[in-house]
Amino acid sequence: MVSKKKEQANNLTTSSISTSHNKAKKYLLNEGEDVPIMQELGIFTKDNKIVASMYDKFKQINRFIEIIDDEFKSSNLKEITILDFGCGKSYLTFLIYHYFVNIKHIEAHIIGYDIKKDVVENCNKLAKKYNYSNLEFILSDVKKDKLFTGKIDMVITLHACDTATDYALNFAIQRKAKYIFSVPCCQHEINLSIRRGGEFDLMLKDGIIKERFCALLTDEIRAEILRAFGYKVDMIEFVDFAHSPKNIMIRAKLNSPKKDNKIFENIENLIKNYNFSQKLYDLTKKL
Ligand SMILES: C[S@@+](CC[C@H](N)C(=O)[O-])C[C@H]1O[C@@H](n2cnc3c(N)ncnc32)[C@H](O)[C@@H]1O
Repeated sequence: MVSKKKEQANNLTTSSISTSHNKAKKYLLNEGEDVPIMQELGIFTKDNKIVASMYDKFKQINRFIEIIDDEFKSSNLKEITILDFGCGKSYLTFLIYHYFVNIKHIEAHIIGYDIKKDVVENCNKLAKKYNYSNLEFILSDVKKDKLFTGKIDMVITLHACDTATDYALNFAIQRKAKYIFSVPCCQHEINLSIRRGGEFDLMLKDGIIKERFCALLTDEIRAEILRAFGYKVDMIEFVDFAHSPKNIMIRAKLNSPKKDNKIFENIENLIKNYNFSQKLYDLTKKL
């Protein structure tokens, strides 16, 4: 049972706690706007105020959409197919649907994948309740299940756990998805496998430094692999560190599909010296 105190805290809205600086900022989704699914997801109260405990999530999904909007602002695209790997409760997935269908009037087919049955069922229930046609949620383990086989335009991930991000990026590469917007999280793989092996040994001495160094190394290897396959990649600060410490977005757009073996050789040398594993490298080296 939720305690009274917790319930009260959850019901606080940002405006009831002090938000003079927030009010100045115009988002794609703004407090006060009537987007019923946002109430249903617990981001807005019944009178469309941001629920205080959801403020970080509100910032994250809004920023994600802003970055997507930078790409599609002047696009005359008529339809788009998007896969969301590790969609969870799907705050972002629903907002992306709202953005493309209700704001941009682009016909969007969006599929959210998650390994948790209850969240997938609930998201499908909500999509049906709000008549969000072509928005579906599928119970899958993205590491091993067969996923959508039609043409895809975009792959997104927001904090998909550890190597789930690698499977998403691998899928995007193999299926030549034009757009990737991926915010990784829990990059444990290199941290667990790396051994001392050269000039960077200093970065492996202290746990917290090693953990952050390995997370950054993971994401830069992912970016390099995307570049090797012909993507133009930017690494951008997605939200302020205060709203999420996992705040780097890999934004990639396919220029011309190819494979740059030199990039793979460089990564291979690093892996040999430091003896670590990296899933995206393993999944793509033989492509
Ligand atoms: C931290 S949550 C993020 C959820 C959502 N994207 C968001 O930002 O609110 C990570 C989600 O990835 C899902 N996930 C982890 N591994 C997965 C896998 N192998 N296949 C499908 N979903 C997975 C988890 O069940 C969880 O819902």
